[in-house]
Amino acid sequence: MALIEFRGVQKAFGPKVVYRDLNLDIYEREVITIIGGSGQGKSVMLKMLIGLLDVDAGKISFDDQQISGITEADYAPIRRRVAMLFQAGALFDSLSTKENVAYGLREQLKMTEMEISERVRESLAYVGLPGTEETWPADMSAGMKKRVSLARALAIRPEVLLYDEPTTGLDPINVTRIADLIEHLNGTLDVTSVVVTHDMDTALAISDRIAMIQDGYVIFSGTPEELLQSDDPRVRDFIEGNAPVDEDTETLLRSAG
Ligand SMILES: Nc1ncnc2c1ncn2[C@@H]1O[C@H](COP(=O)(O)OP(=O)(O)O)[C@@H](O)[C@H]1O
Ligand SMILES: [Mg+2]
Repeated sequence: MALIEFRGVQKAFGPKVVYRDLNLDIYEREVITIIGGSGQGKSVMLKMLIGLLDVDAGKISFDDQQISGITEADYAPIRRRVAMLFQAGALFDSLSTKENVAYGLREQLKMTEMEISERVRESLAYVGLPGTEETWPADMSAGMKKRVSLARALAIRPEVLLYDEPTTGLDPINVTRIADLIEHLNGTLDVTSVVVTHDMDTALAISDRIAMIQDGYVIFSGTPEELLQSDDPRVRDFIEGNAPVDEDTETLLRSAG
C-alpha cells in the first residue's frame, strides 16, 4: 500500500490549469523524484501535499487518511510527520545556526532546552556540519546554508522529507554532496523522500523511482533505467534537452542500450 496517494487531483489558478488529473502513489522509504519542465506544477504538488495549497477536486491521502480539504487543526499532526526543504531554503539571517535548526522543534514539539540542544547537535552532524551551532547564515556558503536548511527540516524527525529543487544554484561539488546526502539520509533516517528537480543527473543518481509531470498529468513513472529506455517523445525530449551527461549517466545510458 502506498504511503501517499494523489487521486484525480485537479488544480488551477484562474485560467491557468496546472493539474487536470494527477494520480501518483508514493511508497514508504523510497526516494521518488518528480521531474518536469519549469512551470509544470512540481512545487504546486509539494505545496498541496503539505497543505499550503488546496486541491480543486480529487484527493490526497497520507497513511490512509485523507489530507486534502481538511482543516488547519486537523492538519497539524500531519505537519509533524512531513517536512519540506523549500526551494529558496531561506534561513533566518537574524538567528544563529542552532536557532535556525531548532525553529521547528520550538514551533511544533514540546521539548526541553536540553533535548533541543541534543537534537540540533545530532541534526547538524547528519548533514556533515557538526559543531556549527554558533555560526551565522551571513558567514556561510550557499552549500552550507542548504545543509543547515536540511538539518532544520530533519530535526523534527519527519517520516517524509520533501525537497524542492535541492541542488538548484549550487556548484557541481555541492550538487553531488547534497544528492549523496539525500540518498544517505533516506537510508539512515528511514524516511520517504520526495525530490523535485529539473536536474536529470541528480534524478538518475538518487531515485528509486522517477515520475515525470507534463500538461497536468503524470506522463511517466518508473525506475531510472525505465526512464532512460522510454520511447515516449515527451520523455526523450526532456532527457535529451536537460541532461548535461556526466559519467554515471553515460554508464546508465550505455547499459540501457
Ligand atoms: N500561488 C499561485 N498563484 C497563481 N499561480 C500559481 C501559484 N503557484 C503556482 N502558480 C502557477 O502554477 C504553475 C506551476 O507552478 P510551479 O508548481 O511553481 O512550477 P514548477 O514545476 O516550476 O515548480 C505556474 O504556471 C505558476 O505560475
Ligand atoms: Mg518549482
